[in-house]
Amino acid sequence: MGKEIVLTGITTSGTPHLGNYVGAIRPAIEASRREDTESFFFLADYHALIKCQDPERVKQSRLEIAATWLACGLDTDKATFYRQSDIPEISELNWLLTCVTGKGLMNRAHAYKASVDENVNNGQDPDYGVTMGLFCYPVLMAADILAFNANKVPVGRDQIQHIEMARDIAARFNHLFGQHFVLPEAVVAEDDSAILKGLDGRKMSKSYNNTIPLFDTEKKLKKGINKIVTNLLEPGEPKDPNGSTVFDIYKAFATAEQTAEMRQKFADGIAWGEAKKELFELINGQLAEPREKYLELMANPAEIEAVLQAGAEKARARARALISDLRNAVGLVNFV
Ligand code: TRP
Repeated sequence: MGKEIVLTGITTSGTPHLGNYVGAIRPAIEASRREDTESFFFLADYHALIKCQDPERVKQSRLEIAATWLACGLDTDKATFYRQSDIPEISELNWLLTCVTGKGLMNRAHAYKASVDENVNNGQDPDYGVTMGLFCYPVLMAADILAFNANKVPVGRDQIQHIEMARDIAARFNHLFGQHFVLPEAVVAEDDSAILKGLDGRKMSKSYNNTIPLFDTEKKLKKGINKIVTNLLEPGEPKDPNGSTVFDIYKAFATAEQTAEMRQKFADGIAWGEAKKELFELINGQLAEPREKYLELMANPAEIEAVLQAGAEKARARARALISDLRNAVGLVNFV
């Protein structure tokens, strides 16, 4: 049996925060160490252009996200790590898929529909500010996945529809041109352990502006943790760990034993300031080493570039064979 192919992309439009680490980066790197899987992780920098038209920001985010994965211990000999924009085969597949994708299917995409709804609510033209990039977003995502015939695609809940669309598009292509694509499956964490809460108790997300950056300075990490919203219970008063953001974040970094101890401290009325101090120490202890590695990498972009170039070579070698078959299948054949 061949290895199972696991693939996921990270849109490069922001700075990695603790939620990205707990929900995506840490589990992906852990899974990539398994012997029965082959991992493909990439920087979705074409996707970044859909939301972000600030070149400096796109550039900086790609660098930060690449440095983060490497600093967190991704083994790039084992996993294939690359930039989407370094793989022309993805663009080529994007077009082949675009030509079999129904417009009606894209009309149903949540992200596009949300923009239309917002326009309508604001009394604007429904398509105001909607680019073809946004409208066709799911086709590009299908190309990312199908270019490597990935079996499993770990994503957040908000992306499940896109994986379903990738399956639809793959099935349509297979129906027209023969069996070329595996139908990919979304992998979503069943419990909520993959969703870290942010400063205000909602899901930690750039769009809520409630994040704690992963590799900012120690001082900023401490400051971030101190900003987590708590209730007004005094030291000595028992506190409920259920629903507490401080407790939830603690749990995401702690062993079962440490979590049980903290639960007891809550029952015993630990002061919020003290709980936050312990939270800081726990997280900082785990991040100190990767942070140093991160700063080293950020100061040496040539090293990151070399890793990504090697990753692109590896990825392209895999995609090229498939794309060549697909070109033949649709009639783009060589005449001799
Ligand atoms: N759209 C995904 C997100 O915003 C990122 C992404 C792009 C992706 N291409 C992908 C994820 C392919 C998985 C597979 O989270």
